[in-house]
Amino acid sequence: MSQTVRIALLGAGTVGAAVARRLCDPRRADLYAARVGRPLELVGVAVRDTTRSRDGIDPALLTADASGLVERADVVVEVMGGLDPAPALLEQAMRCGAQVVTANKQLLAQQGPRLEALAAENGVGLDYEAAVMAAIPVVAVVRDSLAGDLVTSISGIVNGSTNYVLDLVARKGVAFDDAVRQAGELGYLEADPTEDLEGLDAAAKIVLLARAAWGADVSIDDVQRTGITGLTDDDFETAAANGKIIKLVASAWRSGPPENPRVEMGVRPVALPQDDPLAQAREGANVVIIEAESAGRLRLHGAGAGGEETASAVLGDIVRAARRVVRSA
Ligand SMILES: NC(=O)c1ccc[n+]([C@@H]2O[C@H](COP(=O)([O-])OP(=O)(O)OC[C@H]3O[C@@H](n4cnc5c(N)ncnc54)[C@H](OP(=O)(O)O)[C@@H]3O)[C@@H](O)[C@H]2O)c1
Repeated sequence: MSQTVRIALLGAGTVGAAVARRLCDPRRADLYAARVGRPLELVGVAVRDTTRSRDGIDPALLTADASGLVERADVVVEVMGGLDPAPALLEQAMRCGAQVVTANKQLLAQQGPRLEALAAENGVGLDYEAAVMAAIPVVAVVRDSLAGDLVTSISGIVNGSTNYVLDLVARKGVAFDDAVRQAGELGYLEADPTEDLEGLDAAAKIVLLARAAWGADVSIDDVQRTGITGLTDDDFETAAANGKIIKLVASAWRSGPPENPRVEMGVRPVALPQDDPLAQAREGANVVIIEAESAGRLRLHGAGAGGEETASAVLGDIVRAARRVVRSA
């Protein structure tokens, strides 16, 4: 039995580099050892370019052989993103008996149920808190904290990029097209902003939340989706004249009996009253409101992106996964 819990990190970009720095920080290392019951050991970091120096990461840890790294780990953390080779590496990890953590929303939205089934088959955990709203611990709330309650609905501003655009229009009076351009220049939008502007990113996130809350067998095709590209300056002026703010709202709600729930999901621009809690999300912030039969209305608000913020959720999942490793030893 290893004296440490061996962590393999797949990816050292915006999120992965922040995770690696925290895992290598001696102050954090002592805390994690106390919380897990054994020290965490970063055994390697898979990247494409091993020659590039990475601030705070020992070059000796870098490898281009992600598959070889997976074989040496108790916990495999996938923060490379995309659909190739991430799923094959996660599958390999699970078949080797490793716990798996991922921040890959795109992968989970498309292949989540298959990966969950594979995790169950291999008796390992699949944790993905960072995939939905980065630092905001919403998956744990709907899946674990409210497991004894009946969640009735989830609604939120789950895409910080579109919120940044809509906030510029609503609060700064910037024309819609200019706001999209400014958001692009500031790095809030990808080079191809379709995923964000057409609501696909928000749809993927609401699917993950519906699955976590209700175990629902749903996919992105089940989301009734309208993005923000069809909005005009007239729409914003009308909303403002009526004291409202347009936001891109993602929602999921349960109808039918709890033992046989029917789940509906939507993503669409909505003109909200200024004092609506969802209207309070400024710039790139995210906010989500969860309604549950006994708990009532819960609101979570915070950063829905960013390396450090997302690393917070990934590290939480790593600690949870590492505890499982220690328990099962
Ligand atoms: N950024 C955020 O705020 C945020 C928030 C929530 C969730 N996420 C999710 O977190 C994941 C990572 O995002 P990110 O922003 O950190 O991405 P990123 O900056 O593009 O970093 C990707 C990393 O993966 C490595 N990589 C990619 N393909 C690889 C391959 N085939 N073999 C080995 N290494 C490979 C890259 O290596 P090189 O460095 O050598 O190119 C890079 O280090 C994504 O799934 C994303 O959706 C991100």
